[in-house]
Amino acid sequence: MGFRDLKLLEVKNITVTFETDEGIVKAVDDVSFHINRNEIVGLVGESGCGKSVTALSILRLIPLPYGRIETGEILFYGKNLLELNRKEMRKIRGRAISMIFQELGSALSPLHTIGRQMVETILMHKNITRKDAWNIAETWLEKVQISDPRERMFAYPYQLSGGMQQRVMIAMALMLGPDIIIADEPTTALDVTIQAQVFELVREMRRSHTSILLITHDMGVIWEMCDRVLVMYASRVVEEGNRDDIFSKPTHPYTIALLESIPKLSADKGRLKAIPGQVPSALNYPSGCHFFDRCPDAFDRCRDEKPKLIDLGNGHKAACFLTKNEL
Ligand SMILES: Nc1ncnc2c1ncn2[C@@H]1O[C@H](COP(=O)(O)OP(=O)(O)O)[C@@H](O)[C@H]1O
Ligand code: SF4
Ligand SMILES: [Mg+2]
Repeated sequence: MGFRDLKLLEVKNITVTFETDEGIVKAVDDVSFHINRNEIVGLVGESGCGKSVTALSILRLIPLPYGRIETGEILFYGKNLLELNRKEMRKIRGRAISMIFQELGSALSPLHTIGRQMVETILMHKNITRKDAWNIAETWLEKVQISDPRERMFAYPYQLSGGMQQRVMIAMALMLGPDIIIADEPTTALDVTIQAQVFELVREMRRSHTSILLITHDMGVIWEMCDRVLVMYASRVVEEGNRDDIFSKPTHPYTIALLESIPKLSADKGRLKAIPGQVPSALNYPSGCHFFDRCPDAFDRCRDEKPKLIDLGNGHKAACFLTKNEL
């Protein structure tokens, strides 16, 4: 096994539930995947499919007491993160595994200047002087294209635009040189130019041996950025494979639909071909294949039976009864 192939993170059979007023919902259903060293893995699916909950469970940030990781293991360097105590987990967060949150509010405290927040975070994990920490923070603000970084260090989050807060959060996630960055739709609030710069930074991090879990609803981003892809639909991983396999021989009808929804510069002038219907609420998933009510190829068996992920070779897997080895 080469250095590149080392499984850095292994998520095994994770199931996450939430207690809601209307009943218990399974937001993540028996999800397994791994991230190798030096790899950008994409997690793609429409809104509501369980991508953020999957990401939050890795860092054990599922909101308590309503949310629960019911089963599974999350192995980081072979150690199960679900067995660590709070203090050990705090050491992992930010330093070894950092996260760029989809919700801006989750990352920055409104009470302190961004300079102070960045410096405290650095000092929590690194044994250096406050002055050096300050310089590192300022350099990172510059890297994420924040103008006048020296002055911005004294700003409170509310004094910055959403896009700028997003970039501060990106700087904070990258600045400690983590082993893994979980980036949950990291560039949604950013304009196209800044988005490109952030993606360049992410590629640069990968070159310095950081692995990235990149969450997006956009297959275009997957094509540009990722080595390997996990397609998630309504709480389950439905297809997994190398980027090239996923794009050249997509197998699951949902993956095929997602690929068809990429805007093309053709006669229809970049209009999205939307996937008909909507992701069902987690309270109302069909009892068999979760894609049943939207799938153009659905047949009787799909109604009540859950398709398993079938190995198609070369790390390519799909969970559909039409997959060749299933028939
Ligand atoms: N705190 C919560 N309480 C109840 N349900 C939740 C909570 N967070 C997420 N969910 C549900 O879990 C499912 C997956 O959500 P999420 O992971 O945010 O999807 P995605 O990131 O793919 O858009 C959704 O059905 C959502 O309603
Ligand atoms: S198992 Fe059936 S419903 Fe599900 S994706 Fe395949 S054909 Fe469609
Ligand atoms: Mg999300």
